[in-house]
Amino acid sequence: MKQLHVLISAFSCLLCLVVVDSITHPRDVEALKNLKRSIERKSITMGSCLSSWDFSVDPCDHIFSARFTCGIRCDFSLAGLSRVTEIALDSAGYSGELTNITWLLPYLHTLDLSGNSLSGSLPESLSNLIRLRQLSLSRNSFSLSIPTSIGSLPYLEELYLDDNKLSGSIPPSLNKLSHLKNFAIQQNQLSGEFPFLGSLSNLNSLDASNNNISSIGTNPLSLPISLISFSMRNNSLKGEMPRQFLHMRYLEVLDLSYNELVGAITGEIFEHPSLQQLSFSHNQFSAVISPSGNVRRGRKMVAVDLSYNKINGLLPKFLAELPNLSALSLEHNRFTGMIPSGYAFKVRTASLQRLLLGGNYLFGPIPDPLKRVEPGSAKVSLVDNCLYTCPDTFFFCQGGEQKSLIQCKSLRHTIP
Ligand SMILES: *[C@@H]1O[C@H](CO)[C@@H](O)[C@H](O)[C@H]1NC(C)=O
Ligand SMILES: *[C@@H]1O[C@H](CO)[C@@H](O)[C@H](O)[C@H]1NC(C)=O
Ligand SMILES: *[C@@H]1O[C@H](CO)[C@@H](O)[C@H](O)[C@H]1NC(C)=O
Ligand SMILES: *[C@@H]1O[C@H](CO)[C@@H](O)[C@H](O)[C@H]1NC(C)=O
Repeated sequence: MKQLHVLISAFSCLLCLVVVDSITHPRDVEALKNLKRSIERKSITMGSCLSSWDFSVDPCDHIFSARFTCGIRCDFSLAGLSRVTEIALDSAGYSGELTNITWLLPYLHTLDLSGNSLSGSLPESLSNLIRLRQLSLSRNSFSLSIPTSIGSLPYLEELYLDDNKLSGSIPPSLNKLSHLKNFAIQQNQLSGEFPFLGSLSNLNSLDASNNNISSIGTNPLSLPISLISFSMRNNSLKGEMPRQFLHMRYLEVLDLSYNELVGAITGEIFEHPSLQQLSFSHNQFSAVISPSGNVRRGRKMVAVDLSYNKINGLLPKFLAELPNLSALSLEHNRFTGMIPSGYAFKVRTASLQRLLLGGNYLFGPIPDPLKRVEPGSAKVSLVDNCLYTCPDTFFFCQGGEQKSLIQCKSLRHTIP
């Protein structure tokens, strides 16, 4: 009975602490003031989170009231003081620079300022956020380079810097972010060689598309083998097909389209055990080499896009043997020869739902199984080839002419 009484009073005392003593740690209040002061006053519009931040009252004690309506979360710490654990501002169009903020918020785990008009450089002082797990600064106007100090945020799991004006190269220090799972830096002006990030053994998703990165290096382990999705679409990658991906056992999506890669697409990539979507479109590849092993190892592959390259030779027959392939785009290359019957069967049996072969130098008859495919049951295009028996009565011949005899002959001369 006495024990129970003690327990109850301990419990009620805990409650009274929460109710009475929930004041914010003074340094956290200072940091919040600091943040509000850095935002240009004219951009703090009525009804926005920041407009409700009124420091005549205690922030954590007035959370979700008319003052401090939104934008922060607090947690109770053992010392009887509340600590700010989350800052997630609304996308109210805030402008200003964060350069002078000291970021002394040691308990903050989320900082989300995405979708505003913040500018200037990202401060080195962000590394004071030692417990930060998520940093979202997407869709602002931050410029200059990514601070090296971001690499010393030991618990960072999500880093979103996409859609800003960041430039320079990506700091190699990011390889220390061993908890990082998602990393988005697409839509910036980053350049130079991609750093070694092979130690990021938890990284699942990396999107660096729409930048000006020139290389991902030649070290076969320079990218984390834990990646599930990797995009470096629309950069300036040069040289031969990178080989880092062949080791990645979980990779499902690989997009290297809109780069300047040359040479052969080697067969191993089609034997990849987990890859489902492969896009190498809009490069300068000149050949596809058939895999030497069993292409059925690539049984997860669903979509292959090799369009807009300069690939010579016959259509690769082995692609029709990928059991799960449902979309194949080989448009605008220099493929010649006849359409393999394997392709036609795969469309006819509704396994392949998209087959785009336009803009090549294919010739010969239309395979019979293709002729029996109902319009609307698959998306197929054979326009702009050298198929002189491709009348408009077939839906896949519609929407463009075949090439002229002269154009068709011109390529054959270049084929050995
Ligand atoms: C940052 O502080 C420096 C020195 O106090 C000052 O000159 C500068 O204007 C400040 N920058 C911003 C964006 O407030
Ligand atoms: C490539 O990136 C540039 C710059 O980010 C952009 O202007 C362009 O539209 C992008 N092109 C494609 C095809 O995505
Ligand atoms: C991309 O980087 C190259 C140097 O590697 C430079 O010459 C080019 O101007 C850059 N392109 C853009 C759009 O910034
Ligand atoms: C095709 O993909 C689905 C979904 O990923 C999977 O369940 C199925 O086993 C695959 N088919 C083959 C033949 O592997």
